[in-house]
Amino acid sequence: MLRQYAVKENMRVDFNKLSYTGNEIKYIQKAMDGSPLQGGGQFMNVCEFLLRRITRAKNALLTTSCTSALDMAAIMCNIEPGDEVIAPSYTFVSTINSFVLRGARPVFCDVHPDTLNIDETKLAGLITERTKVIVPVHYAGVACDMDAICAIAKPRNIAVVEDAAQAFNAYYKGRHLGTIGQIGTLSFHSTKNVIAGECGALLTNDDALARRANYIREKGTNRIDFVDGKIDKYTWIDYGSSYIPSELIAAFLSAQLEQADELTQPRIEAWGRYAQMLSPLEEEGKLHLCKIPPYAKTNAHIFFIYLDEPDRARALHSYLKERGVSTNAHYQPLHTCPMALKFNPHPASLPVVEKIAQTMLRLPMYASITEAEQSYVCDCIKEFFAR
Ligand SMILES: Cc1ncc(COP(=O)(O)O)c(C=O)c1O
Repeated sequence: MLRQYAVKENMRVDFNKLSYTGNEIKYIQKAMDGSPLQGGGQFMNVCEFLLRRITRAKNALLTTSCTSALDMAAIMCNIEPGDEVIAPSYTFVSTINSFVLRGARPVFCDVHPDTLNIDETKLAGLITERTKVIVPVHYAGVACDMDAICAIAKPRNIAVVEDAAQAFNAYYKGRHLGTIGQIGTLSFHSTKNVIAGECGALLTNDDALARRANYIREKGTNRIDFVDGKIDKYTWIDYGSSYIPSELIAAFLSAQLEQADELTQPRIEAWGRYAQMLSPLEEEGKLHLCKIPPYAKTNAHIFFIYLDEPDRARALHSYLKERGVSTNAHYQPLHTCPMALKFNPHPASLPVVEKIAQTMLRLPMYASITEAEQSYVCDCIKEFFAR
């Protein structure tokens, strides 16, 4: 039985592979032929048009990264020292660091085990009179329960900034993620589904906020009004920094955005295959699979599993690595990180995050993954549990 897979000894399944559409070089060449390459050119306009069309956001601003978009969001929320910002503990550091940079105090929330999204039932207990923003993170491109989160935030005048870094082309009840709260942020980092190396975007349906975002993105100046011919000199009017990407990046991204569905659909199919191939192991109680709530349409950014015991999870990771299958855990719980302990040296335990951080594995996932590669990954996992 165990020998069954030995024939695939030389098989290797990478964790991620980049997908190109074939037009990236052509568009970069076009940018080089026809523009001074700085931000704000023709390809940036194309990207922002495509982003508005796909997400249905009223305003979309291309940024140098999702981190930059979160930095801008923190300025737009008028964070002042001592304001509190609530985020899940299971996320990338930028989700909260952008607000901490403006003087906010981080407050961390536990997550749901099936989605690793913020547990909205725990939010009310974390809110104080200093709470200014809640930052839901749509982990793995699966929507948080946005109605429940907005119902808590709105009557208390708390802003909702959606960290949709992983959620481009993913939806909550038909609405694109990042367009439900006051501000949303997207990432086009190389690890994402649609990529440009390092790039991001800020979405908002609020025109006044979008206007301010344009100033913040251009180093705190009203350069946009100068470019639009509304003023004859531009000047310093707000906080800001260098958050606008070069035309080379925008040219590359435009090729990817044009084929966003082609880059997403194969992942959705691969997600379904993993769920099908591994569900017998879940039924046998060997592992747990990630879930998609009925209100969510995912972009299949990540497929994760988790076990009950940290030692077993580490053993499975090593077992797969020996067989050429690359898997990865994900975040360290933020509430226990050295920087977070400076704000709160004795944090309350967040049991789901603490368990997940030690027992979860992300499986190989990319648009070009084949059924044979996925079968091999799942066979190796089955073999591990059959020993
Ligand atoms: C949830 C989340 N937020 C923010 C970021 C930061 O994105 P970027 O690398 O585009 O700055 C990431 C990147 O992985 C992320 O996963």
